[in-house]
Amino acid sequence: MDMQPILAREGNHNLRNYEKIRESFDWEDVRKTFSWYESGKVNAAYETIDRHADDPAKKDQPALIYSSPEREETLTFGQLKALSNKFANLLKKQNIQKGDRVFLFMPRSPEFYASFFGILKVGAIAGPLFEAFMEQAVRDRLEDSEATMLITTPELLKRVPQEDLPNLKKIVLIGYHSETNEKYVDYYHEMEQASEEFEIEWVSLEDGMLLHYTSGSTGKPKGVYHVHNAMIQHYATGDWVLDLKEDDIYWCTADPGWVTGTSYGIFAPWLNGVTNVIRGGRFTAESWYETIDKNNVTVWYTAPTALRKLVSAGEKVVKKYDLSSLRHVLSVGEPLNPEVITWGVNAFNLRIHDTWWMTETGAMLIVNLPDMDIRPGSMGKPIPGVEAAIIDNEGNELPPNQMGNLAIKQGWPSMMRAIWNNPGKYESYFINGWYVSGDSAYRDEDGYFWFQGRLDDVINTSGERVGPFEVESKLIEHPAVSEAGVIGKPDPERGEIIKAFITLNEGYQASDELVEEIRKFVKTGLSAHAAPREIEIKDTIPKTRSGKIMRRLLKSWELGLPTGDTSTLEE
Ligand code: PRX
Repeated sequence: MDMQPILAREGNHNLRNYEKIRESFDWEDVRKTFSWYESGKVNAAYETIDRHADDPAKKDQPALIYSSPEREETLTFGQLKALSNKFANLLKKQNIQKGDRVFLFMPRSPEFYASFFGILKVGAIAGPLFEAFMEQAVRDRLEDSEATMLITTPELLKRVPQEDLPNLKKIVLIGYHSETNEKYVDYYHEMEQASEEFEIEWVSLEDGMLLHYTSGSTGKPKGVYHVHNAMIQHYATGDWVLDLKEDDIYWCTADPGWVTGTSYGIFAPWLNGVTNVIRGGRFTAESWYETIDKNNVTVWYTAPTALRKLVSAGEKVVKKYDLSSLRHVLSVGEPLNPEVITWGVNAFNLRIHDTWWMTETGAMLIVNLPDMDIRPGSMGKPIPGVEAAIIDNEGNELPPNQMGNLAIKQGWPSMMRAIWNNPGKYESYFINGWYVSGDSAYRDEDGYFWFQGRLDDVINTSGERVGPFEVESKLIEHPAVSEAGVIGKPDPERGEIIKAFITLNEGYQASDELVEEIRKFVKTGLSAHAAPREIEIKDTIPKTRSGKIMRRLLKSWELGLPTGDTSTLEE
C-alpha cells in the first residue's frame, strides 16, 4: 500500500502520547476509576445507567434517542433506570435467578434496552438475537444456551419453535394484549404494575453478563460468554478510541444482536455517560445522513459495508445534509478500504479510524487512535494494555512484514471467559499463552498491523460473520439437495457474498426456479443474511477421503486460482 499516511490532527483528544502511556500502562489504573473498586458492589448495569441516574447533574440528560420510521422516543438516564428497574421486578416475579439465560429477540427499540438492563440487574445473562433470524437460527441458540426465558414480539414469536425447547418456560411478549398466564407474560401490562424501585443483585466481576452466538468454520454457532469484568475495557476504549466526552452525541450503527451493538452500542457510550442515538429500520443513504444531521451526531461508529454504500450513493446525496456536527468517525468489522478513507476525508473532512476486534475479544484490541497517524489499509496498533503479534503455527513470533496468525497475549479485561457448553472449543483458541484470532495479518516495522484474510472458512458478508457449515446444513435439508459446499466469494460492496455449490438428488432437474426456491428455503429457514446469493449446481462436490467438503478447492475453482495440495481429495 503506497498511500501516504494521514497525519493525526491536533485536538483535545482523551488519550495523547499513546506510545509513552503504553510503556508503563497498568489495567489496575482503569479499574480504580470504578465505584466498585472501593465499594465492592459490582454490576455493569449500575455503572452504565444507574450511576448517572443517581447523579442530579446527569439524571435528566437524554441517554437514548430512539428513532425508526414508525416511532421516536427519548429516554433520560433517570427514565432508563426506572424502566429497567421495573423490568427487573417483572423478572423477579417470574422467578428469574442469577445465572439464568434470558434471551431477547426483537427489533431495536426502547423496550430492548430497558429489558437488557433489567436482565443484568437481577444477575441473569442476556442473550440478544438478531431480529432477522429465522427458526433454525433461533432454535440452535436457545437450545444450546438452555434459555429459560425469551423476550420477543408476537410477530417474531412465529419463528420460535417452542415445542423443541423444553427449557424455555416463559415468554415475555411486547405488544400482546391479554392476561399473563403460566407461559406468556404481557410486557406492557406487567410493566405498568411493576415498581420503579429495585435492589440490584450485586455480582462478582467474573459473573456472566452476556452470551453472543457467533459462527466458526465447523459446527453450529457457539456461545461466546462474557462477564461483567468486560466493562473495564468497554469504558477505557470508549474513552481512548471513541474519544467520548460528556456532551457528545454518539451513534453506533450496529444491531445489539451482534457484539458491536452491545459493547459499543450499549456499554462504551453509557459507561462514558454520553447521549446515545439508536436508529431502527433499514439502511438508506438518506436516512443515515439524516440521522447525523437531525441529531447533531458528533461521534460515529459504523462499518465498511455501510460506508461503501454511502460512497455508491454519490456526492449529490451527501451534499443535501449538514454533517458538520461530526468530529470523529470509526469503522469495524471488515477491512476498511483505503479509497473509503479518502472519500471520508472529502465528504466529512475527517479521517475514518479503523478498529479491529472480534466477538470473542469483547472489545477493541487493535485500533487507530485519534492522535495516531493513519496508514490507510492498516487496522492500526494495539491499545495500551494489549500485546499483539504475528505468530507461526507453533506459537513463535514472526519478524516484521511476515504474514502469519494474528495473535493476542492473554490477559485483557473483556476477553470471553468460555464457549458455552464447550470447554474443549475454548481451549482450542490458545497456543503458548496467545489467543489465536483466525485472521492472518502482518506487522510493519513501525508496529502497524495489516489484515490479510481469514485463515479458516468463516465468511464475512457485509460485516456479518457466517459459518459455512450452518448454511450447508440448511441447504441439504431441502429435498432436492444432496450435497452442499459453501464459500465466501469476494464482492466489491459486501466484502464477500455467500456462494453455494450443490448437487441434486435423483429426480430433480436443474432450473432457475429450483435455484430460487432453494435460496428462499435458506432465507426463510435460517436468516436472510445467510442465504446464498449464488447457487451453482454441480455433478459432484469435492471431498476428502474422510468425507469433508473441500471448501478451499471450491474457492480456488471459483476464483481461478491454483488448487494447491489436493492429495487428500477422494477419487
Ligand atoms: O476477520 C475479522 C473481521 O471480523 C472478524 C470478527 O467478526 P465478529 O466476531 O463478527 O466481530 C465483528 C466486529 C467486532 C475478525 O476475525 N474484522 C473485524 N474487524 C476488522 C476485521 N477485518 C478487517 N479489518 C477490521 N478492522
